[in-house]
Formats: sequence, structure tokens, C-alpha cells
Amino acid sequence: MLVVTLLNQKGGVGKTSCTHHLSGTLASVLGKRVLIVDADPQASLTQGWWGPSATRTLDPSSTIAPILAGDLPHPGQVIHETGLAGLHLVPGSRAASVYNVADPTTASRESRETLREFLVEVAGDYDLALIDCPPNLYGCSFAALAASNHLVVPVQPEDYGAQGIADVLDSLDLVRSEGYPVTLLGYLLTMVQSRRALHQVYEANVREAYGDLVFAARMPEAAEFPEAIAQRKTITQYKPKGAAAKAIRAIAEELLSRTEGVQPTAKGVAA
Ligand SMILES: Nc1ncnc2c1ncn2[C@@H]1O[C@H](COP(=O)(O)OP(=O)(O)OP(=O)(O)O)[C@@H](O)[C@H]1O
Ligand SMILES: [Mg+2]
Repeated sequence: MLVVTLLNQKGGVGKTSCTHHLSGTLASVLGKRVLIVDADPQASLTQGWWGPSATRTLDPSSTIAPILAGDLPHPGQVIHETGLAGLHLVPGSRAASVYNVADPTTASRESRETLREFLVEVAGDYDLALIDCPPNLYGCSFAALAASNHLVVPVQPEDYGAQGIADVLDSLDLVRSEGYPVTLLGYLLTMVQSRRALHQVYEANVREAYGDLVFAARMPEAAEFPEAIAQRKTITQYKPKGAAAKAIRAIAEELLSRTEGVQPTAKGVAA
């Protein structure tokens, strides 16, 4: 199983939307067995499947919270069906916010390692895990990075100096310096309005600055993405033949090809 974290501490760049739609395409179009993990105490990814009130009333013991608390729950306790074949969810919970400590290097070993250990345990059941993170570089994001093979940084085509990339790279270095071999898979442009001159300029700037590290495929801005989530669907269920679904498929295929050649360890993650 490959584990990919989507992280940028900048808020609202499309981390959750991307995780939601990508996971649907990977499962239902590309036939992968996918586990999505909601490491954000805001639990937006979970709300996308179950709605806000069901998410709020979830028993924390059936979410990511016990994992971040340092327990290794039985997988059946915290892994749930999404209703889409091949796609399962470890929900997020407000209860996880106590583990989202500002200085993750001082956090207990448990908070830093149990997510990784949990994913190793279930690695045989999935081809891929995608982890959605909060918009900060605290304990939950640190745990996600420590559990991952790869990092994808969603960025909007705006001034790349304001996109938080340098801070994400600092966190990546920090996690790697603690012995976790997560690598940067690339930057993913999100909410792209390709006809907008300013977006074209910023996209060109990002590509010039980061070269091949920028995914060729992009997530366009499209009303269908939030519309699909409002209906508790992924884009491939909502408008399977539309341009938005095709764009997500291109991202999913590029993500898989970028991870090719990465051999999971015998334990399953963190090659
Ligand atoms: N490609 C898109 N086209 C149109 N709207 C989008 C797109 N991607 C995201 N949005 C909208 O932008 C807002 C922010 O998106 P999202 O919640 O995915 O970002 P995020 O990075 O996860 O935010 P946070 O930092 O709060 O976790 C949401 O209202 C979402 O519906
Ligand atoms: Mg989010």
C-alpha cells in the first residue's frame, strides 16, 4: 500500500476536495482499493460523505481519535464503508484536536507513530491510502507525514511566495530528520481558471520555479466539484463524462505514475 498525504498549511486551497474526488476516481474508475483518512479535526472530508450533523455526532472511538491517542484500535472499529465500492474511510473528529499540538516534535511517540503503525497493519487490504490534513503543520499533519510514503502539496495559481510552500518543505525536512522517509511527490495546481490571464501567469511562475515537481495535470475550478460533494458524491458519480471528472482522472493517473517504482516495504508503508 502506498500512503499519500495531501498537505498545505494554507487554508482553502482544495486539499479536501481533491482528496474526496481523487479517491473516488482511484476506486471506481481505476479499480484501486483506497482508504481515505481524515486527519483534520475540522473533519471536512468526513462531512463530504456523511454530512455535518452525522459527522458531529460520531462516537470519537470510531474515528481517527483513538489512533492519534496512541491506541491501535481494531481496524473494523475505525474503518467505515463510504458506499462507493473499494473506498473506505477513517473519519475525522473534533476530538482529535487535542492531538493537534503546535510543536509536534515534543508530542509523545504515540501520537507520532500510531497512525503509521495502524496503516502498516491494514496495508494488505488497500492499494493506496490518501490522508487529508488540517491547514496547519501541527501534530495531525506531522503524524500524517510520518505515516506516508509521499506528500502532494495542493497550491492555487496565485503568488507562489504566498502559497506556504517553504513552510511545508520545512515540515517535510523536520519529519525526515526524525527518520521518516516521506518524499515530495509534487505540487498540484488547484482551482485553476485557465482562461484567466492572472492564473496563466502564476501557473507559468510555479512551473518555472519548481519544474517537473509540478503535476502536469491540474484541478480546474468547476462548480461541479462542490455540487457533487453537496450531494455526497464524487465527481465520477455526479458527472462521469464531464471535463471535471476527466481532469481528476488525469491527476489520478499522474499520481499513480509518479509513485511507480516505489516499492512498499514488507511492512507495507514508508518504503
Ligand atoms: N476545483 C474547485 N472548483 C471549485 N470550487 C472548489 C474547488 N476546490 C475546492 N473548492 C471549494 O473551495 C473551498 C475550499 O476547498 P477545500 O475545503 O477543499 O480546501 P481545503 O484546502 O481542504 O480547506 P481547509 O484548509 O479549510 O482544510 C470549498 O468551498 C470547496 O468547495
Ligand atoms: Mg480541508
